[in-house]
Amino acid sequence: MPSVFLKTYGCQMNERDSEAVAAQLVAKGYALAPSEAVADVVLLNTCSVRDNAEQKALGKMENLIGQFRKQRPGVVLGFLGCMAQSRGRELIDQLPDVDLVVGTQKFHRVADYIDDLLAGRRDKVVDTEVEQGSEATIKEHLLTGAAKDKAVTAFVSIMQGCNQYCTFCIVPYTRGLERSRTIPDIVAECRELVARGVKEITLLGQIVTSYGRRVESRGSKVEGQLLSTLDPRPSTSPFVQLLDAVHAIDGLERIRFTSPHPKGYGPDLVEAYVRLPKLVESAHLPVQSGSDRVLKLMHRGYTRARFLEIIRQLRAVNPEMGITTDIIVGFPGETDEDFAETVSLAREVEFDNAFVFKYSQRRDTPAAAMPNQLPEELIEARHAQLLAVINEIAERKNKACEGRVLQILVEGPSRKNSARLEGRTRANKIVVFEGSERHIGQVMDVKIVHAAPFTLYGDPAILN
Ligand code: 5AD
Repeated sequence: MPSVFLKTYGCQMNERDSEAVAAQLVAKGYALAPSEAVADVVLLNTCSVRDNAEQKALGKMENLIGQFRKQRPGVVLGFLGCMAQSRGRELIDQLPDVDLVVGTQKFHRVADYIDDLLAGRRDKVVDTEVEQGSEATIKEHLLTGAAKDKAVTAFVSIMQGCNQYCTFCIVPYTRGLERSRTIPDIVAECRELVARGVKEITLLGQIVTSYGRRVESRGSKVEGQLLSTLDPRPSTSPFVQLLDAVHAIDGLERIRFTSPHPKGYGPDLVEAYVRLPKLVESAHLPVQSGSDRVLKLMHRGYTRARFLEIIRQLRAVNPEMGITTDIIVGFPGETDEDFAETVSLAREVEFDNAFVFKYSQRRDTPAAAMPNQLPEELIEARHAQLLAVINEIAERKNKACEGRVLQILVEGPSRKNSARLEGRTRANKIVVFEGSERHIGQVMDVKIVHAAPFTLYGDPAILN
């Protein structure tokens, strides 16, 4: 059977989509190639969130074309995902050697399209249509974990799309409007994963706190089903109802989710951290800016004060709460004062870590047409300055873990040194330690003996 190599750019949602595509291909009998050099089919699952992500995938494809076209003209080359969705046929016009362009609502069709291309039934495939119900098609898992088919953690896609329309963001155009899977469908997938040995599940979506909210407005069959499975308790959001349902699965040890929106942190979600012990004390809460003026221009729907209030509430629930964020520097019109507000917010919150992004103009987004686009050098300088602040705080917070005993879930061999194992604390910090295969999949306590800037080193032996 032909073999396929899949390379993924971008976020965890993309990783998950690629895993589902790979699992679908394997189910059809395809092999997964260890490298592009030996593959019959090479697929790039793309990201559009910033220009450099698009450029990387385009550069990679040009490179593949250069490498393969003469020696191995039969290799099938394809773009999947967000850039495929936003650029469509344009990609084939630009790179005529590309055979396949499949958007974000058609991942489940990829395996059939590859069959067709390899069998010569089609010459090119471009499919960027919207498809009702496609949010429920990302459900197959490979589960090739670190230790012989033993995957300890898994991602589960609960919804697709985003209706927030932040002015900088391309996601509503690449992922479409919000569509949620039903709770029974998601729980069935989670149960199956737990039955296969998974201990930790991360619920995924572009805006998970909006899970299940867009039901009445559109009324499709799938949405009708979703509505009928939701409890109409007005005080409990559909997302928290989902957390409750997943929490009830026996054998599951930990629940995470990403990404939420700060506006979704109502009292019910804050309280869920108290009620649900499997919901770990960790939140990736994208703030984007510390300036109210910029937050408004970004259409974020909260103020600096409201964001700080959420952080205060989460830390009141559990002072161990690990909090990370995303920040954009250089949004159009961002002044020195606006930027200073972002730096001061970072200092005030003391994030455990943060992704700091240079603003990138995205096609069709309102911010791309705003006046006062900032010069690259200024954006670079602000990026470096904020990153230094973020790193200093992250290192200090890591150092504070030295000498403490923390609970970890052991995931497998360390990515940095495969002779060691690694696990994650509940607050989502990576801990590397000396252990053996029997530890994989276990929840255990380790004493932190050393903190490097981004990694903790632990010792389970010195516990008594
Ligand atoms: N430019 C820079 N960063 C962006 N992000 C989203 N859109 C842009 C953009 N146009 C960042 C946000 C988001 C993360 C996934 O990517 O911080 O939270």
